[in-house]
Amino acid sequence: MQTIKIRSSQADDMLSIERLYPDAFPDEDLLPLVRQLLTEEPGILSLVAQAGVTVVGHILFTTCGITASDIKAALLAPLAVAPKWQRQGVGTALIREGLEQLKPTGIAQVYVLGDPAYYGRSGFKPETGVAPPYPLPAQWREAWQSLNLDSTSAPDHGTLMLPEPWLQPALWRP
Ligand SMILES: CC(C)(COP(=O)(O)OP(=O)(O)OC[C@H]1O[C@@H](n2cnc3c(N)ncnc32)[C@H](O)[C@@H]1OP(=O)(O)O)[C@@H](O)C(=O)NCCC(=O)NCCS
Repeated sequence: MQTIKIRSSQADDMLSIERLYPDAFPDEDLLPLVRQLLTEEPGILSLVAQAGVTVVGHILFTTCGITASDIKAALLAPLAVAPKWQRQGVGTALIREGLEQLKPTGIAQVYVLGDPAYYGRSGFKPETGVAPPYPLPAQWREAWQSLNLDSTSAPDHGTLMLPEPWLQPALWRP
């Protein structure tokens, strides 16, 4: 397999990112969200996976707070890998590198809404204490997960306080 390089995204990756998302998510338009996060929000960790000169994967982490808690948290989303490059470890490598980069920044908890069979492989566990910004439909409850990055005890209640681009109910229901 061709070597994959994981690096921070740059402004001139936008065209590649704009091509990647419709490819990875043919039924969902996440580009407005991704554009808004990348251009308007501070506190975003954005990494791309590059094979040769081609961007084949992208991950975003949005730093955020939790009500009734002073710990720093992050939301992992979205994560996209080009179909031709799926199941070759690219997504896992993007998650691993992102978590490594978040650790020294003092972020204690990372949350994700996604397939537990997938994110469980990277250490995420079902989250029942801290809630997402909107109530999840019953069939998505298992998909709300978290991972502890340091040895502090995880908050057992509260709600994730995310910046405005995430405050769209449509992003939180099937
Ligand atoms: C989901 C996604 C990010 C995974 O990335 P990837 O690079 O294909 O994943 P990896 O190669 O790191 O890991 C794949 C492994 O996880 C397993 N897995 C479990 N659930 C999976 C899932 N929902 N999708 C892909 N792989 C999954 C696979 O079986 C595979 O294991 P194997 O190699 O032993 O068979 C990628 O398939 C993708 O972009 N899909 C479309 C967009 C999407 O759904 N993004 C997730 C947003 S929450």
